Amino acid sequence: MDLRIRSFEDYQEKYKLSVTDPDQFWDEIGRSFQWNEPYDQVSKWEFETPDVKWYLNGKLNITENCLDRHLECKGDDCALIWEANNPTESAVHWTYQELYEKVCEFSNALKAQGVGKGDRVIIYMPMVPEASVAMLACARIGAVHSVVFAGFSANAISDRINDAQAKMVITADGLNRGAKQVPLKEVVDDALIHCYSIEKVIVFDCLGSNPNMEAGRDVWWHEAIDGMDKSCPAEPMDSEDVLFILYTSGSTGKPKGVVHTCGGYMVFAAYSFQNVFQYQEKDIYWCTADVGWITGHTYIVYGPLLSGATTMMFEGVPTYPDASRFWQICDKHQVNVFYTAPTAIRALMACGDEHVENHDLSSLKVLGTVGEPINEEAWRWYKERIGKGRCPIVDTWWQTETGGIMISGLGDLSPQRAAHAGYPLPGIQPVLLDQEGKEIKENGVEGYLCIKHPWPSILRTTYGDHERCKVTYFSHYKNHYFTGDGAKRDENGMYRIIGRVDDVINVSGHRFGTAEIENAINENRLVVESAVVGYPHHIKGQGIYAYVVCETMPSDLEKARAEILETVIEEIGKIAKPEKIQFVTGLPKTRSGKIMRRILRKVAEGEADKLGDVSTLLDPSVVDDIVAGAF
Ligand code: WT7
Repeated sequence: MDLRIRSFEDYQEKYKLSVTDPDQFWDEIGRSFQWNEPYDQVSKWEFETPDVKWYLNGKLNITENCLDRHLECKGDDCALIWEANNPTESAVHWTYQELYEKVCEFSNALKAQGVGKGDRVIIYMPMVPEASVAMLACARIGAVHSVVFAGFSANAISDRINDAQAKMVITADGLNRGAKQVPLKEVVDDALIHCYSIEKVIVFDCLGSNPNMEAGRDVWWHEAIDGMDKSCPAEPMDSEDVLFILYTSGSTGKPKGVVHTCGGYMVFAAYSFQNVFQYQEKDIYWCTADVGWITGHTYIVYGPLLSGATTMMFEGVPTYPDASRFWQICDKHQVNVFYTAPTAIRALMACGDEHVENHDLSSLKVLGTVGEPINEEAWRWYKERIGKGRCPIVDTWWQTETGGIMISGLGDLSPQRAAHAGYPLPGIQPVLLDQEGKEIKENGVEGYLCIKHPWPSILRTTYGDHERCKVTYFSHYKNHYFTGDGAKRDENGMYRIIGRVDDVINVSGHRFGTAEIENAINENRLVVESAVVGYPHHIKGQGIYAYVVCETMPSDLEKARAEILETVIEEIGKIAKPEKIQFVTGLPKTRSGKIMRRILRKVAEGEADKLGDVSTLLDPSVVDDIVAGAF
C-alpha cells in the first residue's frame, strides 16, 4: 500500500494535487485498502446541512483491514505490546494472528450475548489489551462502540448510555492506577440504576476483586468467550455506516456524541499515522493516550493496526513507581516512536532531569505531542532531553471531530519550529478567518481556524441531534467547518495553535465545557449559581477556576469547597475538579443578565488591573468583592 509521503518536495506536490483535485488525491489513497465492494464515488458533500459522504457505496470492514489483511505476511509479527502498571509484571506480546483470534472469539461472544449490527455498546475499561479487543470485536460485527474514559462518574456514564440507547456495557471489575486500584463495576452498577436500554454487561476480571454480578444481566468476559470459535466472518459495512460514537464536551449543554463512519475514518487513520510518524516496518510505536479519548482510538488501535505496525499500550501512569517510568519503558521495549501530551512532558520536566538519565533512549526516532498547545520551554526540553536533539518533534493538531491529525510535521521531512504544529497534511485545507468571517490570506497573521474542504474522517453528525452538529461546527462561518480554536500563521505559513476561542477549557488535554462544569456545581445544595473559567496552569495547561454564589456565604469555606468538589466528582468525575473555588456574593452581569466572563477570566489570570470597562455592569460593585477575594 502506498500512502507515503517521502520527502518535503513530495509533500508539496501531493499538497498541490490534494487542493486542485481532492477526489483524485483521495481516490489514490483509498485504493490501497481492502474493499469488499469498491466505492463508486470518492466524495459528495455540502457544508450547509451538513451532508458529507466519502467513498460512496464502498463495502468494507475495518477489522479485515486491521487484521485479516496482514495475516499472510505478518501473522507472526507483533501487533500489540502491553506494559502493565506494575513494572515487575511481564509484558504481553500478541502477534497479528493472536490478536485476530482474540477479536474473532470475542466477536462471537458478543453475538451470542445478543449484540448485532447497528447496536450501541459502551466500553468502560482499563488500559488493558482487552479494551482494544472489545473495540475491534464491535467493529467486526458492525456494532457501534462508544468508549467512555474510565475516569468518568456513574452519572456521566448513564448520560452517555441513555443518549446512545446502548444495549451493552463492556467493563472490568476495576483498574490499576499507580499504587491505587479503582473499582469500575461498582460505578457501572450505579450508572445502570438510571438506564433502561442495557441488556447485558460483560465484565473483564482485571483485579480478581469479586464484584457484584447481577444474575441474568452480568456475564464474565472469560465465561462469555468460553468455547467460542476463533474465527468470525466480518460484517460487510457500508462506507457511511457508523463505526463509533465518542462523546466530547462543547461550549453548551451535555457532551455530544461525535459520529465517525467506517470508510473515511479508516482511510484517514492509516494515512495520517504512516505519514506523521513516518512509521517504518518493525518500529515499536507507543502512544501514551487512553483508549477513552480519540487519540487512543485513532493512534493506539486503528491507525497502527491498519498499517501493520506494532502498537504498545500502557496500563499505568507516568509517575509510578517514579517519574522515570516512561523512559524506563522506552528503554525496555526499545521504542522508536513516542507520542504523548504536553501536560505529561511538563509534569515530568518538573520532576527533574535525573529521571531521564540512565535510560537508553537511543532507539527513539520520532517524538510526538498532542492535546493542547505546547509551550516553547517544554518543547525544547522534549527535543533536547528526550530526543537528545536528534529526533524531530511532531506537534499534532487535531480534534475528536476531525478523527485524525490535521496539522503537523511529518517525521523528519518537515521544517521544524518550536511550539508550532506546522503545515497541514495533504488533503487538509485550513484557513484563518477574521471576526466578520472573511478569510485572511496573508502570512504573519492570527484568526479563527476553520477548514474549507472536507476530509475523509470529518465528523458526520452528533448522535441523535444533527441540528447541534450544524450549529456547533457549520453555522459560525458559511461553508466552513469551525474548529473552535484560534491560530497564528507565521511568515512561512506554519501554523501555531493558540487555544480555544469558545467556552471550552482544556485541562491536561481533557476537554470540558464551562457550562458543563457549572451545571455540575449547581447541583450542590448550597449553590445558587456559578461561573467557570479557565486560567493558565504551569503543568495542566489550563486550570478550572469556579466562582460560586451560595444562598448564604458558607461559614466554613473549606468544608463547602470539599462538598462542591464531591458534587463535581459525582456529576462528571475527578478529572473535572476545579482547581480553585472562590465564593462570591454575586457574578458580574450585564443589564440583560449575561455573565461577563471576560472579567472573571482576567481576575483568574491575575490581571485584575486590566479589567477594562465595567460601567455597563448591572452592579459594578460585585467586581470589587471578586477582585478582593481572588486567589
Ligand atoms: C482540542 C481538541 C486531538 C486529540 C486530543 C484532544 C486542542 C489538540 C493540539 C495541538 C494545540 C491542540 C485544541 C483542539 N489541541 N491538539 N497539537 N496544539 N492545541 O482532542 O479533546 O477533541 O480536543 O485540543 O484546542 O481544539 P479533543
